[in-house]
Amino acid sequence: MSIRIQPSILSADFANLKSEFESISSADGIHVDVMDGHFVPNLTFGLPVVQRMQEISTLPLDVHLMIEDLDRWAVEYAKLGVFSVTLHLESCEEVAKTISAVKATGVRVGLAIKPGTPISEIEPFISIVDQVLVMSVEPGFGGQTFIPETIQKIRDLKSLIRRISPDTWIQVDGGIGVQNIEDVARAGADTFVAGSAVFNSGKPAENIEALRNLAIRGSSTS
Ligand code: DX5
Ligand code: ZN
Repeated sequence: MSIRIQPSILSADFANLKSEFESISSADGIHVDVMDGHFVPNLTFGLPVVQRMQEISTLPLDVHLMIEDLDRWAVEYAKLGVFSVTLHLESCEEVAKTISAVKATGVRVGLAIKPGTPISEIEPFISIVDQVLVMSVEPGFGGQTFIPETIQKIRDLKSLIRRISPDTWIQVDGGIGVQNIEDVARAGADTFVAGSAVFNSGKPAENIEALRNLAIRGSSTS
């Protein structure tokens, strides 16, 4: 199974994005958290900034939309030509329609759920998305503590995905670090977002390598 490490740019230095991007060039993608201050109690950036990120990045951008009115906005982010756009189930009215609108742009589409949303609610959509994002903290801020119940949720999702849509990636976001990534990989996740664990201490490239090695170990013993 392939393992992907995607540093979250939320923990990077926004005044030096270009060099921050270079410091994580060994990663598999860059996770871009778009927050609107409504769907989540925090505000980051919107379309023009993601557009510039897309222009300067050599890595695929994985855009995580934590905003209201996704039925209107998701496709606008997809049109920037990023690698993937992830929608929160809790912020879509017309889930299937919005998923197909994003897909029609040629961009990969993800469906995210908050910690309190059960897997059963996304089950009908799993076969039409490229990745499922299981939030392991309440969305809104970097640096929070991983919610342990996420492990069982990932196990359940993995067995469902094995059955109905084996190519769908399982992404996990929030509180991921060297202390838990092996267990999370063993539970079935393959795509790992990490903000603080990559940027807050030491060297990003070394942190990425350490996370990757542990995730590979976890997935090989699952
Ligand atoms: C939280 C964001 C995360 C966040 C992760 O709402 O979706 O992507 O940046 O940061 P860490 O890894 O520090 O929990
Ligand atoms: Zn995120």
